[in-house]
Amino acid sequence: MQDGDGRPRTPGRDVKIRKALIPAAGLGTRLLPATKVVPKELLPIVHRPALEYIADELVASGIEEVVLILHPVKESISGHFSPGGPVIHALAERGQLSRLDTLNRILGSLKFTVAYQDEPLGLGHAVWCGKDAIGNEPFAVILPDDLVRSKVPCLRQMVELYEQTPASYVAVEKVPENRVHLYGIVDGTFEAVQKPFAAKNLVEKPAPGSAPSQQAVIGRYILGPEIFGILEGLSKGSLGELQLTDALAVVAQKGGLFAYPFEGIRHDVGQPLGFVEANLIYAMDHSEMAEPLRALMRELLQNSSPK
Ligand code: G1P
Repeated sequence: MQDGDGRPRTPGRDVKIRKALIPAAGLGTRLLPATKVVPKELLPIVHRPALEYIADELVASGIEEVVLILHPVKESISGHFSPGGPVIHALAERGQLSRLDTLNRILGSLKFTVAYQDEPLGLGHAVWCGKDAIGNEPFAVILPDDLVRSKVPCLRQMVELYEQTPASYVAVEKVPENRVHLYGIVDGTFEAVQKPFAAKNLVEKPAPGSAPSQQAVIGRYILGPEIFGILEGLSKGSLGELQLTDALAVVAQKGGLFAYPFEGIRHDVGQPLGFVEANLIYAMDHSEMAEPLRALMRELLQNSSPK
């Protein structure tokens, strides 16, 4: 294997996960009308766009380069992750540039490139659209709807695992039986949290009663570049889309895929309840907001009666 600078890269301990792909071309229909103009990835969780929390996780996981998969109407995402912009001048004049410190830290650590997915042909297709930007090396995929709060950032847990034992990995968590039809579900035997187990197969959004387990894939993956060739050979799967899960099933059936029950709590910010929940929980982490928010919630709970 060789990467862009011609350096030989061989699978094994010396191959670092340097690149992460973020599929962000979806139209965010579950959050309409909020997402008619503003991409869901830029909606605020407390005072920062949701995607900044994902970027923090990438920085903390040692990622150097991010490949954003965008739909052309979502160009404002790359605008946010570019230096400069119209508000900078005004902030400098008011002496308020420190409000951009967290974003500047991200921009100083990650190089952003963009690839486009013009049509909503599925998550597998979105990943395939990043083929040239990723090249011939292992990489991470991180779904921006899934924010994870954990002691060690979720992707970092997986990168460390990969460094010990190179293979493909998917993060999993147990979901209730009545929600398995919303996820990719792993066929394999859970042992303990933070203990990877072999995935024998994967099924995308199984019908109720037909799921091989309750271990659902959440939006963190470590993949090898062979996934692109597998995606090219696939036909449409669930919902008539090209599914990443179906390509991963091929890797699983060859014995190359492990499910990783991560330590942490996931919030699905791509739907209204998860979005509100994440805003409350992240605000409780905020030093200036936690106390007044707690007081407000106490008051609201005392004065509200169930309808
Ligand atoms: C996607 C994947 C699914 C995975 C889920 C995690 O589904 O296709 O396998 O379990 O993300 O959030 P989506 O939520 O895009 O329907």
